[in-house]
Amino acid sequence: MTEVEEYKQRIKELEKANRILQKKLERSDSNQIALEESNDKNESLLKKVIFELAHSKKNLELRSHELEQALQNLQAMQAQLVESEKMSALGIMVAGVAHEINNPVSFIYGNLTHVEEYVEDLFQLLECYQKSCLNPTPELQAEIEASELDFIKEDFPKLLNSMTVGAERINKIVLSLRNFSHLDESEIKKVDINDGLDSTLMILQNKFKAQSNSSEIQIITEYGNLPWVECYARQLNQVFMNIIINAIDALEKSLNPQIKISTETKGSSILIRIADNGMGIPPEVQQKIFNPFFTTKPVGKGTGLGLSTSYQIIVDKHQGKLECHSIPGIGTEFLISLPQKFRK
Ligand SMILES: Nc1ncnc2c1ncn2[C@@H]1O[C@H](COP(=O)(O)OP(=O)(O)OP(=O)(O)O)[C@@H](O)[C@H]1O
Ligand SMILES: [Mg+2]
Repeated sequence: MTEVEEYKQRIKELEKANRILQKKLERSDSNQIALEESNDKNESLLKKVIFELAHSKKNLELRSHELEQALQNLQAMQAQLVESEKMSALGIMVAGVAHEINNPVSFIYGNLTHVEEYVEDLFQLLECYQKSCLNPTPELQAEIEASELDFIKEDFPKLLNSMTVGAERINKIVLSLRNFSHLDESEIKKVDINDGLDSTLMILQNKFKAQSNSSEIQIITEYGNLPWVECYARQLNQVFMNIIINAIDALEKSLNPQIKISTETKGSSILIRIADNGMGIPPEVQQKIFNPFFTTKPVGKGTGLGLSTSYQIIVDKHQGKLECHSIPGIGTEFLISLPQKFRK
């Protein structure tokens, strides 16, 4: 082979190698493109996944918030159910007792005037006998002296009077019991709030007496002139009762325990204040007292429903306000503000 041919051969080989290289290059180019494309795809997929994760996290948060809300609603509803069940049972019992007492007391009260008349007649008759029998036998004289007739004549009207007062007092208690239960009336009623407070105090009377570990509670009432207001009377009495019982509990260890109740009209509202000079409520507890089931009382004593139910009755049912002002060590005041008219 000549030198020229050798070169030609060499060039051919080089050209072939070049072609191969070119093809390889092309292939790697297309590979790179494919790789880049798949990278892009992966990245967008990842972004999508991240976006979806964030979205579902938000959704989850929303759901858990909704669940929390539902749980709270459920607790409030349960609280209200327990309390209204308790109250309606108490109302039925109180109304029953009032009814049962009412009849026998009517016998006594209704007959007292007849007793008075009859005894007066008997005394007159006796006087007639005494006048017509100027010289009684010694036995009769002794009998008259032994029976202390003069004392009986003097004492009998007093005795009758105290029986009348007693019967009237029982009548008043029965009336209070009936007022308190308001069972014989429709739900919304026009009432005198001061009467409602008085009935509630009457019901709780024996709780104010001195106990082994507490002194007698002094009740001070300062009632203003109030117009009659339309309200859910029974439920309002329940609020008064819940707040006054709390005050009694707070006064357990007080030396000079007092509960002051005052009422007044202010603008178009009626204000009712129930204050005690008990232990007071620390600020961190004050925030929780209207929560259902919140109690600081020992197990079995408090259910923690009194104030949450009261709040519902005043705020939700009557569009009023229920506020608590308390200074630890000094006392607590609950302020109820009721509109004179509310939307039913
Ligand atoms: N006058 C008050 N003085 C001091 N603490 C009070 C007073 N009124 C309420 N509290 C506090 O508020 C808490 C909640 O009162 P709430 O009436 O709702 O429940 P409770 O009295 O504990 O139980 P119950 O369901 O039997 O009424 C009480 O446990 C008590 O700590
Ligand atoms: Mg209570």
